[in-house]
Amino acid sequence: MPENAGEQRTGLKVELGVVSSKLCKVVVSGTRPTGALHLGHLNGALKNWVKLQDEARCYFFIADWHALTTEYADTAGMSASIEPLVLDWLAVGLDPERSVIFRQSEIPEHAELHLMFSMIIPVPWLERVPTYKEQQAQLQGRDLSTYGFLGYPLLQAADILIYKALGVPVGEDQLPHVELTREVARRFNRLYGEVFPEPKGLVVDGARVPGTDGRKMSKSYGNAVALSDDAGTVYEKLARMVTDTRRVRRSDPGDPADCPVFKLHEIYSSEEERAEVSAGCRSAGIGCLDCKKVMIKHVVEELEAIQERRARFASNPATVSEILEAGRERARKVASATVSEAKAAMGL
Ligand code: TRP
Ligand code: SF4
Repeated sequence: MPENAGEQRTGLKVELGVVSSKLCKVVVSGTRPTGALHLGHLNGALKNWVKLQDEARCYFFIADWHALTTEYADTAGMSASIEPLVLDWLAVGLDPERSVIFRQSEIPEHAELHLMFSMIIPVPWLERVPTYKEQQAQLQGRDLSTYGFLGYPLLQAADILIYKALGVPVGEDQLPHVELTREVARRFNRLYGEVFPEPKGLVVDGARVPGTDGRKMSKSYGNAVALSDDAGTVYEKLARMVTDTRRVRRSDPGDPADCPVFKLHEIYSSEEERAEVSAGCRSAGIGCLDCKKVMIKHVVEELEAIQERRARFASNPATVSEILEAGRERARKVASATVSEAKAAMGL
């Protein structure tokens, strides 16, 4: 596991689960509705979600209450991005028959459980979650001294525990939240009796997808290839992606191990293609653009298939609202049973 800075700073123990473990009978994950998805989401998270559908009961939700914790002053973009997000999910292969797909704010029980947890969790537990101070520092210009922002990880704990999840597929940055969730479960169980299992974070190996500038792909860095980009845009973006800096001239050899483009080859190209471009890179037998073209072709093919499926779903305007309604019904049944159990345990 790559070094986890948050772990050092907080002393929170980080638990890594095994991806694809059959033990993970229930899986929960959420996404904040904050705009277009890109190759980082697809390869770092969504493909894994699609696989998990075969192994577990999956709950995937749009974390709109979570979005409020930072976007409360400007909520217009938020509701506008819900439908596109669900369409993206369907297009990449989330299956509403198998997975419960819903909108967090339509399940009031999440808030109810969050409130109950807030009675038993000391504030310092929340203050030492690394994302708390990091995000406050990063998102300058917004007042993030709110009660809700501090409580964000506790709401996330409620999201997870309300379905008694054992697996939480998330990015590395979210592991401290999963660890807090485990601590919340333990404290609740110690006070009131065994109600909640302790979940594990499921982190995809090598999930860090580089953007065109070599940093982690992120919309806010402006280095992302969106799922909606057409072939021309994909080509234009990836053709100018940074490479091993040793290849200044065409005749300079390089090392794929030091090249972010090669990370995309690892995701997208066949073993043979990788061997070929590696050799060509090391001997300066091929130029970077030729190397990139091999990978770009696969990216374009994948995105075109996704876009085609997306268009099919989008052509029926009722699709998304029907899916969210069905998901709401299924999620609420489970959520309200857990809340009843937790209330009874608490003596309410
Ligand atoms: N905090 C997560 C993020 O920012 C989103 C999230 C909210 C989530 N609730 C969750 C993820 C529950 C997993 C499980 O990405
Ligand atoms: Fe990177 Fe390919 Fe260029 Fe080598 S040839 S530096 S792997 S883009």
